[in-house]
Amino acid sequence: MTQNRRRIAVLTSGGDAPGMNAAIRSVVLCGTALNFEVIGVERGYDGLMRGSFVEFSQRVLDENLHRGGTLLRSARSHEFMTREGRAQAIEHLRRAGIEGLVVIGGDGSFAGALALDREGMPTVGIPGTIDNDIACTDVSIGFDTALNTVIHAVNQLRDTAYSHDRVYVVEVMGRNSGYIALYSGLAVGAEAILIPEIPEDLDNLVAKIDQVHKAGKAHSIVIVAEGVGGVPSSTRRYEESAGFRVAQYISEHSHHETRVTILGHLQRGGSPTASDRLLASRLGEAAVRLLARGVSGRMVGIQQNRVVDVPLEDAIGKPKPIDREYYELASLLTAVV
Ligand code: F6P
Repeated sequence: MTQNRRRIAVLTSGGDAPGMNAAIRSVVLCGTALNFEVIGVERGYDGLMRGSFVEFSQRVLDENLHRGGTLLRSARSHEFMTREGRAQAIEHLRRAGIEGLVVIGGDGSFAGALALDREGMPTVGIPGTIDNDIACTDVSIGFDTALNTVIHAVNQLRDTAYSHDRVYVVEVMGRNSGYIALYSGLAVGAEAILIPEIPEDLDNLVAKIDQVHKAGKAHSIVIVAEGVGGVPSSTRRYEESAGFRVAQYISEHSHHETRVTILGHLQRGGSPTASDRLLASRLGEAAVRLLARGVSGRMVGIQQNRVVDVPLEDAIGKPKPIDREYYELASLLTAVV
C-alpha cells in the first residue's frame, strides 16, 4: 500500500492552539492525496530527538477535528536548539525514511524548522499560535478561537461588573503582542485596552475610567495584555501580573472598586471556530503542496485571504506591528492608553 510513497512527517511545537488538529488532519489527508505517507511526531522537537513516531488513522484524525489542543501533543525543547540535538533528530528522521517535515507552531518553533531545513531536512512551517504574533501572515491558527473565548468570558464578567458598579480588569494572553487584547477589546466594547506595543499611561487610564463613569456608566471593562509592563510570563506570581498591577493602580488612584480576572491558559483550549478550522485546512494543504514540489525552508500563511508562502527567515524574530486600522478604530470606540 505504502510502496513508492515518499514519507514526510508532521509535528506541533511550542504553545498549542485550537485548530492544530485540523492542520494535522489536512497535512495527512492532502499529503496522502499527493502520494506521501505522512507520519506523526509526538511532543514536538523533543519527540523528534527521541524518534517518537506514530502512524495516523483516519478515525483519530476525524475525531479530533473539533477538539482544541493537539493530538500529537507539544513541548518546548532547549536541547533541540543545539546542533547535536538537531543532528540526533535528523538521524531519527533519516532512519525512518522521512524526507520532509511540516512544523506547526510559532516563532520559536520556526527557528528550529529553519535550522533543520538548512541542515538538510526539507521543512515547511505552518503558523499556529493564539498570540497571532507571526510576521508575514495576517492571521495564525488559534487566534480566532482565543478571541471568541475572551468574548464569551467578558460577556459574563460584564453582567457582574454592571451589577456591582465595578471596574473589571481582564488580563488576556499575548507575551509580546497586543493582538488578542486589541481585537477582543474592540469586540467586547471594552472601556479601555492596554497593549505592550503602546507605552502605558496609567494616569490617563484612570482619567478615562472617571470620564466613562461621569458620563453615567457605573462599570468598566479594562482589557490588559499579559505583556504590558514587561513581565510576560504565565508562570510569574499573581502580584507581578499586568492585570493585578493595573487594577491596583486604579484602586489606589481613584474611588473605583476593582476586580481582576486572568484568563490565562483557558484561552489556549476549546473547540476551534469555523474560521480556525478553515484556515488550518487551507494551510495544511499548502504546506504539503510545497514539499511535493520540492520547495522547503518556507512558511505558509494568509495575506488578504490568499494563501502565500514566504521564506522562513522572513517570518522569524520580526515584530508583527499592530494593525493601524484596528488601532485607530479602538481609539474611537474605546481608549487605548
Ligand atoms: O502560545 C503563546 C502563549 O499563549 C503566550 O501568550 C503565553 O505567554 C505563553 O504561551 C504561555 O505559555 P506556557 O505557559 O505554555 O509556557
